[in-house]
Amino acid sequence: MAETNLSTRAAAEPEWWREAVFYEIYVRSFQDSNGDGVGDLAGITQRLDYLNDGTPNSLGVDALWLTPINPSPMFDFGYDVSDYCAVDPVFGTLGDLDRLIAEAHRRNIRVILDLVPNHTSHLHAWFRESRSSPTNRKRDWYVWRDPAPDGGPPNNWLSVFGGPAWTFDETTGQFYLHSFLAEQPDLNYRNPAVVDAVEHIIEFWLDRGVDGFRVDVIHKMVKDALLRSNPKPEPDKEHPIVHYGGQVHAYDEDQPEVHEIIRSWRQILDRFGERTMVGEVGLYDPVRIAAYHGNGHDELPLAFNFRFLWTSWDAAEFRERVDEIERVWPPAAQPTYVLSNHDVPRHRSRFDAAQYGEAHARVAALMLLTLRGTPFLYYGEEIGMRDGVIPVERVCDPVGKRFPAVGRDPERTPMQWNGGHVAGFTTAADAWLPLSSEHERINVATEQNDSHSLLSFYRRAIWYRKRCRALTRGTYRALDSTPDTFVYVREYDNACRLVALNFAAEPRTLVLPFESGRVELSTDPDRATGASPLRSFTLAPSEGVVMAV
Ligand code: GLC
Repeated sequence: MAETNLSTRAAAEPEWWREAVFYEIYVRSFQDSNGDGVGDLAGITQRLDYLNDGTPNSLGVDALWLTPINPSPMFDFGYDVSDYCAVDPVFGTLGDLDRLIAEAHRRNIRVILDLVPNHTSHLHAWFRESRSSPTNRKRDWYVWRDPAPDGGPPNNWLSVFGGPAWTFDETTGQFYLHSFLAEQPDLNYRNPAVVDAVEHIIEFWLDRGVDGFRVDVIHKMVKDALLRSNPKPEPDKEHPIVHYGGQVHAYDEDQPEVHEIIRSWRQILDRFGERTMVGEVGLYDPVRIAAYHGNGHDELPLAFNFRFLWTSWDAAEFRERVDEIERVWPPAAQPTYVLSNHDVPRHRSRFDAAQYGEAHARVAALMLLTLRGTPFLYYGEEIGMRDGVIPVERVCDPVGKRFPAVGRDPERTPMQWNGGHVAGFTTAADAWLPLSSEHERINVATEQNDSHSLLSFYRRAIWYRKRCRALTRGTYRALDSTPDTFVYVREYDNACRLVALNFAAEPRTLVLPFESGRVELSTDPDRATGASPLRSFTLAPSEGVVMAV
């Protein structure tokens, strides 16, 4: 097990992942250490002090989620794994990972890996065997079926990335199932040997000292035993599970048997202790997502809540999203909040209207870091990175190649460390994806010594959060407030913090049910901290504050 400096939790203390700020690193794009234009593990190790050196001069994040680092032919950039217990040479070696974990742990930073259990690469040894013959002992590790009577696919299931979810294999005359690319065949979790094999993979990495996993499309793992076709939505009826391909996804995801597998994984995590798992439950309905927590103790410790990815810049809408989560989450389970990730346009690109500059990004960050839940940041959001512009000839993402409008390269451009050669990301002539043209203005070097920068604001907010139990442990209660504002109270023991966010580009005056309060943090570094009367309190345009009340 890697060297660790992490304190062991006292019995009554909450688990670390309830209070942590997570930071997603898209490994290819964070820092290249060997000059091949692709980010790698040693590059991340070089940047750990930036992420958290134990002082407020660093960002202060508590845990890193690394996107997949396993060997992969990279049809979907690592989400097509060809060997689960090794590191792809483009990212380094197992030794590099051990060093990264040891160095991270010395700084009290945890590291979770991306686990991709729904599908493997078509080049994984398991699939090569499976496709070799209908009688191969691994045939049933994947989902194979005869063609329908008309010679077409066995049912109407669709790939999330477009087209049918089935590909015909000439060698054996059957179709195999793939919820994503044809190069990503789905494993068959109705076969206990597959369940066992994946549990061994989980144990392999936990033994090696990783602090847990982000689990890719966990809701997809188990499919209907009879492989029934998905129904079409009935006209005039609301179907919360129609979310791609115009089908009701009744049979190709979110099957009850998945919970048994997750319960078993939770037991493994608990046996190792101090480990976590955050599931990508890619469903829209929060009630169904919440079910992946089981009773709050026996399934996923954390599940992604992606509601903010589809919320427009509107205070009432954000409040509604949060209140909904507060209503439906099991009391023992911890919500999560996310503004950006490697699959959707960055929130600065989604929310910004040119006239506000980065003001929205500050208000959004303050919200993310003060709600009741575990926040997940996406690399570069702390400096205000926006989506890059990718010329057609440089598109890498398989989704972007099929559907240019929804390609995911723009949110995956290299981290902007400085205004120099390839933004300090690589010594190569160019990076694997083109750099954003804004890197000369938006970068770490420019922002780190500027107390008015977005980066300085993120640091202040994250370090403030760490010291404030009302924020990391407190209850949440929204207050009715002036239009365009979102106001809530967080309480723990005798501590109470009021968070007030103004989504409008004009000032907004609040009437608050408190005599006075002390402003402790504002998105505007020039706002005077200290006591203010609260019967009438005015927020500046696009300002957010935290007050002790
Ligand atoms: C998840 C990942 C995405 C990937 C897909 C297939 O949604 O976040 O990047 O393409 O699963 O593995």
